[in-house]
Amino acid sequence: MKINTFWIASVVLGLLSSCSNNSSSGPTASTTDASTSAASTSANYDSVRGSGKFKHIDLQPTPQPTLVAAGKSVYELKCSACHKLTGEKLVGPGWLGVTNRHTPEWIMNFATNTDEMIDKDPKAQAMLQVCMVRMPNQHLSDDDARNILEFMRNNDKDK
Ligand code: HEC
Repeated sequence: MKINTFWIASVVLGLLSSCSNNSSSGPTASTTDASTSAASTSANYDSVRGSGKFKHIDLQPTPQPTLVAAGKSVYELKCSACHKLTGEKLVGPGWLGVTNRHTPEWIMNFATNTDEMIDKDPKAQAMLQVCMVRMPNQHLSDDDARNILEFMRNNDKDK
């Protein structure tokens, strides 16, 4: 009896933390309802860069203050309702460590091409299964996406 309770608690905690912390350790999305149409596209899907217009982002070694400040405004306006800056889940995963979980290109593609990424990306699908909410497209400009990336880098640097 005790063992059962412990086991169930571990599973529940495991699920929760996989949304708030590292999505790659979460349940693998083996089933998608788009599996038939995705079968051909997933073969050439680049899960490191994601899918979208950003192929290569050049970063400075340290976050650039002007971009960080602009990214903060975007965050407060369009992201903070669902994302905390800690590792704690709100509606979506907390952003602490997000720049270690994904490449800069993946983050910018996800932020601007959200629907396609959720449909195709294994990590995004695993998050969707845990968070149970599909992130809506936030209609970011390219600059917004670049600035929010810099804001995330700065958040990860400080902690
Ligand atoms: C309505 C809630 C909501 C809003 C607003 C929102 N997101 Fe999300 N976000 C989510 C959810 C939910 C997920 C998990 C993926 C999924 O299930 O769709 C997510 C996932 C992410 C991820 C991957 C996180 C990780 O830990 O791997 C990034 C990056 C992201 N969002 C960026 C943004 C940015 C940038 C904004 C603001 C411009 C934003 N989100 C606004 C709900 C939201």
